[in-house]
Amino acid sequence: MDTVILEANEENIAKCAEMLKKGEVVAFPTETVYGLGANALDAVAAAKIFKAKGRLATNPLIIHVADKQQIYSVAEVNEGARKLIDTFMPGALTLVLPKKGNVPDIVTAGYDTVAVRMPDHKVALELISKAGVPVCAPSANTSARPSPTRASHVYDDLKGKIPVILDGGMCPLGLESTIVDMTKTPPKVLRAGAVEIDEVAKVIGDLDTEKVMVDTLAALKVPVGYVPKAELVFSAFYDNMSDVINKYYDSNKNVHGYRPVIFCMNFNADKYKGRNVMLMGESVAEYAKLLFERIREAENLDYNLIIAEGVPMGGMGTTVLSRLIKLSGGKVI
Ligand code: TXA
Ligand code: MG
Repeated sequence: MDTVILEANEENIAKCAEMLKKGEVVAFPTETVYGLGANALDAVAAAKIFKAKGRLATNPLIIHVADKQQIYSVAEVNEGARKLIDTFMPGALTLVLPKKGNVPDIVTAGYDTVAVRMPDHKVALELISKAGVPVCAPSANTSARPSPTRASHVYDDLKGKIPVILDGGMCPLGLESTIVDMTKTPPKVLRAGAVEIDEVAKVIGDLDTEKVMVDTLAALKVPVGYVPKAELVFSAFYDNMSDVINKYYDSNKNVHGYRPVIFCMNFNADKYKGRNVMLMGESVAEYAKLLFERIREAENLDYNLIIAEGVPMGGMGTTVLSRLIKLSGGKVI
């Protein structure tokens, strides 16, 4: 199968909406990462997503909607969920809710709950609204690869396996949505993501964050989640972390074929003089946005050892650290 990349203009969005209606899959941009979408009410279409990604049938998909009302057509919405929908949608928050009978089992991997979100991205919203159906979509990467933040990343992973990628440029947030399971009391955070957990707690009060902590700790023992082609290690955050990073860089450079690169904040670049660096921006939010992007860039430049600066805990720092732990399998230097 040929895979075409189409600029996300009016005409091409309409073309892709037609493909969704006909049961085809379409990769499209959202504000978090690119998704691989299909009609969420069509089991045969949804099956194509699992095949293209090499995704386990036990891993359910998120349903994307174009307006808040559409959420009520696929899920039972309780009081807390209604507050979160009103506050955060459209946006990078996914809610797990009891599902309605029209959602095929393959989409929810047989669970009686369904994950739903309304993306805050013009192209995604137009595509879903023109298709006229809710759209189930995981991130548009091959399973176990970092999530794609550009059309070219999707192409690198899925060329030959999907018919079309709508190119809407770089994803503004660059990392996945925060997921909260609203069927639990208190609601349970399943994934730390682009919306800060503290912001969610401000709206509905107490949240169970144990799973996020346990998953993070589990990754320290058994590498789970993403597998970059380059090996990744990271430093804890402290004043003199550049000393440790430089030492690690120098002792590995040219040993066993290592080509290292340092991921650092722009304002720290001077501390790594004479070494290869890639810049992660001026703030933790920019670091979060650029992380997956820089990993794929580093791989394309044939770096095979990424040494990443740590960031302080709290807010988006917690999300960034959870991704660094997943990516490195917990290798802290
Ligand atoms: O930002 C995002 O969330 C992106 C964009 C494309 O929307 N999507 C994304 O999808 O990251 P994916 O499939 O890569 O991650 C979705 C996660 C999976 O870990 C899945 O297990 C979980 O959501 N999930 C989906 N439905 C669920 C359910 N009913 N109960 C619990 N977890 C669920
Ligand atoms: Mg994913």
